[in-house]
Amino acid sequence: MAKLMKRKELEQHLQELDGFSKPKILLEQYETRAHIAACMLHTIESAYGDLYQKTVLDLGCGCSVLGIGSVLLGASYVLGVDIDEEALQISTFNISQFELSEINLLQADVKLLPQMLEGTKKFDTVIMNPPFGTKHNKGLDSLFLEIGLQCLNEKGVLYSLHKSSTRDYFHRKAPGWKVDARVLAELRYDLPATYKFHNKSSVDIEVDFWRFEKKN
Ligand SMILES: C[S@@+](CC[C@H](N)C(=O)[O-])C[C@H]1O[C@@H](n2cnc3c(N)ncnc32)[C@H](O)[C@@H]1O
Repeated sequence: MAKLMKRKELEQHLQELDGFSKPKILLEQYETRAHIAACMLHTIESAYGDLYQKTVLDLGCGCSVLGIGSVLLGASYVLGVDIDEEALQISTFNISQFELSEINLLQADVKLLPQMLEGTKKFDTVIMNPPFGTKHNKGLDSLFLEIGLQCLNEKGVLYSLHKSSTRDYFHRKAPGWKVDARVLAELRYDLPATYKFHNKSSVDIEVDFWRFEKKN
Protein backbone atom coordinates (compact mmCIF):
# COMPACT_ATOMS: atom_id res chain seq x y z
CA MET A 1 0.00 0.00 0.00
CA ALA A 2 1.27 3.51 -0.86
CA LYS A 3 2.21 5.87 1.96
CA LEU A 4 -0.68 8.08 3.04
CA MET A 5 -0.16 11.77 2.26
CA LYS A 6 0.05 13.89 5.43
CA ARG A 7 -3.08 15.86 6.32
CA LYS A 8 -1.23 19.18 6.23
CA GLU A 9 0.19 18.47 2.79
CA LEU A 10 -3.27 17.52 1.52
CA GLU A 11 -4.68 20.76 2.93
CA GLN A 12 -1.97 22.79 1.17
CA HIS A 13 -2.86 21.17 -2.16
CA LEU A 14 -6.58 21.77 -1.65
CA GLN A 15 -5.94 25.42 -0.81
CA GLU A 16 -4.68 25.90 -4.36
CA LEU A 17 -8.06 25.06 -5.88
CA ASP A 18 -10.36 27.67 -7.37
CA GLY A 19 -13.68 28.14 -5.59
CA PHE A 20 -17.05 29.34 -6.87
CA SER A 21 -16.59 32.61 -8.74
CA LYS A 22 -20.27 33.62 -8.60
CA PRO A 23 -21.92 31.34 -6.02
CA LYS A 24 -25.61 30.68 -6.59
CA ILE A 25 -27.74 31.04 -3.50
CA LEU A 26 -30.52 28.77 -4.73
CA LEU A 27 -28.02 25.93 -5.18
CA GLU A 28 -26.43 26.62 -1.77
CA GLN A 29 -23.01 26.96 -3.33
CA TYR A 30 -20.20 27.28 -0.80
CA GLU A 31 -17.11 25.16 -1.05
CA THR A 32 -15.79 22.95 1.74
CA ARG A 33 -12.78 24.84 3.10
CA ALA A 34 -9.44 23.15 2.55
CA HIS A 35 -8.91 22.57 6.27
CA ILE A 36 -12.25 20.80 6.78
CA ALA A 37 -11.97 18.85 3.51
CA ALA A 38 -8.47 17.64 4.44
CA CYS A 39 -9.61 16.58 7.94
CA MET A 40 -12.60 14.69 6.51
CA LEU A 41 -10.67 12.93 3.75
CA HIS A 42 -7.71 12.08 5.93
CA THR A 43 -10.02 10.51 8.54
CA ILE A 44 -11.89 8.55 5.86
CA GLU A 45 -8.64 7.00 4.66
CA SER A 46 -6.58 6.72 7.85
CA ALA A 47 -9.38 5.41 10.08
CA TYR A 48 -11.43 3.38 7.59
CA GLY A 49 -9.41 2.86 4.40
CA ASP A 50 -12.38 4.01 2.30
CA LEU A 51 -10.50 5.95 -0.39
CA TYR A 52 -7.35 4.08 -1.46
CA GLN A 53 -8.10 2.03 -4.59
CA LYS A 54 -11.83 2.75 -4.17
CA THR A 55 -14.39 4.09 -6.61
CA VAL A 56 -15.87 7.30 -5.29
CA LEU A 57 -18.96 9.36 -6.10
CA ASP A 58 -18.61 13.06 -5.22
CA LEU A 59 -22.25 14.13 -5.11
CA GLY A 60 -22.89 17.86 -5.57
CA CYS A 61 -19.19 18.17 -6.35
CA GLY A 62 -19.10 21.94 -6.92
CA CYS A 63 -15.45 22.79 -7.62
CA SER A 64 -14.37 19.20 -6.77
CA VAL A 65 -12.39 19.79 -3.61
CA LEU A 66 -13.58 16.45 -2.17
CA GLY A 67 -13.13 14.53 -5.42
CA ILE A 68 -9.63 15.86 -6.08
CA GLY A 69 -8.65 15.22 -2.46
CA SER A 70 -9.96 11.65 -2.79
CA VAL A 71 -7.67 11.01 -5.77
CA LEU A 72 -4.72 12.54 -3.92
CA LEU A 73 -5.35 9.94 -1.20
CA GLY A 74 -5.43 7.11 -3.72
CA ALA A 75 -8.99 6.72 -5.06
CA SER A 76 -8.88 4.75 -8.30
CA TYR A 77 -11.84 6.54 -9.88
CA VAL A 78 -14.05 9.50 -8.98
CA LEU A 79 -17.29 10.64 -10.59
CA GLY A 80 -18.16 14.23 -9.71
CA VAL A 81 -21.81 15.15 -10.20
CA ASP A 82 -23.32 18.62 -10.06
CA ILE A 83 -26.37 20.31 -11.51
CA ASP A 84 -24.48 23.50 -12.33
CA GLU A 85 -22.48 23.89 -15.52
CA GLU A 86 -20.36 26.77 -14.20
CA ALA A 87 -19.33 24.76 -11.14
CA LEU A 88 -18.29 21.92 -13.44
CA GLN A 89 -16.22 24.34 -15.54
CA ILE A 90 -14.30 25.34 -12.39
CA SER A 91 -13.93 21.65 -11.54
CA THR A 92 -12.54 20.98 -15.01
CA PHE A 93 -9.97 23.72 -14.49
CA ASN A 94 -9.03 22.45 -11.01
CA ILE A 95 -8.67 18.87 -12.25
CA SER A 96 -6.47 20.02 -15.15
CA GLN A 97 -4.18 21.89 -12.73
CA PHE A 98 -3.45 18.57 -11.00
CA GLU A 99 -3.36 16.63 -14.29
CA LEU A 100 -5.67 13.97 -12.86
CA SER A 101 -7.10 11.36 -15.22
CA GLU A 102 -9.06 9.50 -12.52
CA ILE A 103 -11.95 12.02 -12.34
CA ASN A 104 -14.95 12.25 -14.64
CA LEU A 105 -17.66 14.88 -14.34
CA LEU A 106 -21.37 14.60 -15.03
CA GLN A 107 -23.92 17.39 -15.12
CA ALA A 108 -27.07 16.08 -13.49
CA ASP A 109 -29.79 16.91 -11.03
CA VAL A 110 -29.34 14.56 -8.09
CA LYS A 111 -33.01 13.51 -8.47
CA LEU A 112 -32.33 12.04 -11.89
CA LEU A 113 -29.04 10.37 -11.03
CA PRO A 114 -30.26 6.83 -10.27
CA GLN A 115 -31.90 6.52 -13.68
CA MET A 116 -28.90 8.16 -15.41
CA LEU A 117 -26.51 5.67 -13.77
CA GLU A 118 -28.75 2.65 -14.26
CA GLY A 119 -26.79 -0.28 -15.58
CA THR A 120 -23.42 1.15 -14.48
CA LYS A 121 -21.34 -0.11 -11.58
CA LYS A 122 -22.16 1.16 -8.12
CA PHE A 123 -19.61 2.95 -5.93
CA ASP A 124 -17.49 1.86 -2.96
CA THR A 125 -17.65 5.28 -1.33
CA VAL A 126 -19.92 8.29 -1.67
CA ILE A 127 -18.70 11.59 -0.30
CA MET A 128 -20.58 14.85 -0.15
CA ASN A 129 -21.18 18.22 1.39
CA PRO A 130 -24.73 18.62 0.13
CA PRO A 131 -26.97 21.67 0.28
CA PHE A 132 -28.18 21.91 3.88
CA GLY A 133 -31.76 21.98 2.65
CA THR A 134 -32.45 25.44 3.99
CA LYS A 135 -34.44 28.24 2.37
CA HIS A 136 -35.99 27.07 -0.89
CA ASN A 137 -34.44 23.62 -0.75
CA LYS A 138 -36.28 22.02 2.13
CA GLY A 139 -35.53 18.28 2.27
CA LEU A 140 -32.69 18.42 -0.28
CA ASP A 141 -30.13 17.29 2.35
CA SER A 142 -32.17 14.16 2.97
CA LEU A 143 -32.72 13.56 -0.73
CA PHE A 144 -28.96 13.75 -1.40
CA LEU A 145 -28.45 11.14 1.31
CA GLU A 146 -31.10 8.78 0.00
CA ILE A 147 -29.82 9.02 -3.57
CA GLY A 148 -26.21 8.68 -2.42
CA LEU A 149 -27.10 5.48 -0.57
CA GLN A 150 -28.80 4.10 -3.69
CA CYS A 151 -25.55 4.63 -5.63
CA LEU A 152 -23.48 2.48 -3.23
CA ASN A 153 -22.53 -1.13 -3.81
CA GLU A 154 -23.51 -3.64 -1.13
CA LYS A 155 -20.47 -2.94 1.06
CA GLY A 156 -20.46 0.77 0.34
CA VAL A 157 -20.12 3.65 2.78
CA LEU A 158 -21.26 7.24 2.57
CA TYR A 159 -19.68 10.27 4.24
CA SER A 160 -21.55 13.53 4.52
CA LEU A 161 -21.85 16.86 6.31
CA HIS A 162 -25.16 17.93 7.83
CA LYS A 163 -26.34 20.65 10.16
CA SER A 164 -26.21 19.37 13.74
CA SER A 165 -29.84 20.42 14.20
CA THR A 166 -30.83 17.51 11.89
CA ARG A 167 -28.92 14.89 13.91
CA ASP A 168 -31.93 13.29 15.61
CA TYR A 169 -33.84 13.21 12.34
CA PHE A 170 -31.09 11.23 10.54
CA HIS A 171 -30.64 8.87 13.49
CA ARG A 172 -34.37 8.10 13.26
CA LYS A 173 -34.19 7.61 9.49
CA ALA A 174 -31.14 5.29 9.51
CA PRO A 175 -32.89 1.98 10.38
CA GLY A 176 -35.40 2.45 7.54
CA TRP A 177 -32.51 3.10 5.14
CA LYS A 178 -30.78 -0.07 6.43
CA VAL A 179 -27.60 1.72 7.42
CA ASP A 180 -25.49 2.07 10.54
CA ALA A 181 -25.19 5.79 11.08
CA ARG A 182 -22.49 7.46 13.16
CA VAL A 183 -21.47 11.04 13.76
CA LEU A 184 -17.68 11.01 13.53
CA ALA A 185 -17.09 14.64 14.48
CA GLU A 186 -18.85 17.84 15.35
CA LEU A 187 -17.49 20.78 13.40
CA ARG A 188 -17.81 24.52 13.43
CA TYR A 189 -18.29 25.40 9.82
CA ASP A 190 -17.49 28.98 8.96
CA LEU A 191 -19.82 29.80 6.15
CA PRO A 192 -18.37 32.79 4.32
CA ALA A 193 -20.79 35.68 4.06
CA THR A 194 -21.15 34.99 0.39
CA TYR A 195 -24.76 35.95 0.32
CA LYS A 196 -26.29 39.35 0.82
CA PHE A 197 -28.53 38.36 3.72
CA HIS A 198 -25.51 37.63 5.91
CA ASN A 199 -24.33 40.84 7.51
CA LYS A 200 -21.25 39.45 9.29
CA SER A 201 -18.05 38.54 7.46
CA SER A 202 -18.64 34.85 8.24
CA VAL A 203 -21.28 32.85 10.04
CA ASP A 204 -20.39 29.88 12.23
CA ILE A 205 -22.78 26.97 12.04
CA GLU A 206 -22.64 23.63 13.81
CA VAL A 207 -22.20 20.74 11.43
CA ASP A 208 -21.88 16.97 11.90
CA PHE A 209 -19.53 14.78 9.90
CA TRP A 210 -21.39 11.51 9.34
CA ARG A 211 -20.53 7.98 8.27
CA PHE A 212 -23.34 5.78 6.93
CA GLU A 213 -22.50 2.14 6.35
CA LYS A 214 -24.82 -0.26 4.58
CA LYS A 215 -26.09 -3.17 6.70
CA ASN A 216 -25.92 -6.50 4.92
C1 LIG B 1 -22.54 23.14 -0.36
S1 LIG B 1 -22.06 23.03 -2.05
C2 LIG B 1 -20.72 21.89 -1.88
C3 LIG B 1 -19.81 21.84 -3.07
C4 LIG B 1 -18.66 20.84 -2.96
N1 LIG B 1 -19.12 19.49 -2.73
C5 LIG B 1 -17.69 21.19 -1.88
O1 LIG B 1 -17.61 20.41 -0.93
O2 LIG B 1 -17.01 22.21 -1.98
C6 LIG B 1 -23.43 22.06 -2.73
C7 LIG B 1 -23.31 21.72 -4.20
O3 LIG B 1 -24.50 21.00 -4.59
C8 LIG B 1 -24.88 21.41 -5.90
N2 LIG B 1 -26.31 21.16 -6.06
C9 LIG B 1 -27.34 21.87 -5.55
N3 LIG B 1 -28.51 21.33 -5.91
C10 LIG B 1 -28.23 20.24 -6.68
C11 LIG B 1 -29.02 19.25 -7.33
N4 LIG B 1 -30.37 19.27 -7.27
N5 LIG B 1 -28.40 18.28 -8.01
C12 LIG B 1 -27.03 18.23 -8.07
N6 LIG B 1 -26.23 19.13 -7.48
C13 LIG B 1 -26.82 20.14 -6.78
C14 LIG B 1 -24.50 22.87 -5.96
O4 LIG B 1 -24.36 23.35 -7.27
C15 LIG B 1 -23.22 22.90 -5.14
O5 LIG B 1 -22.10 22.75 -5.98
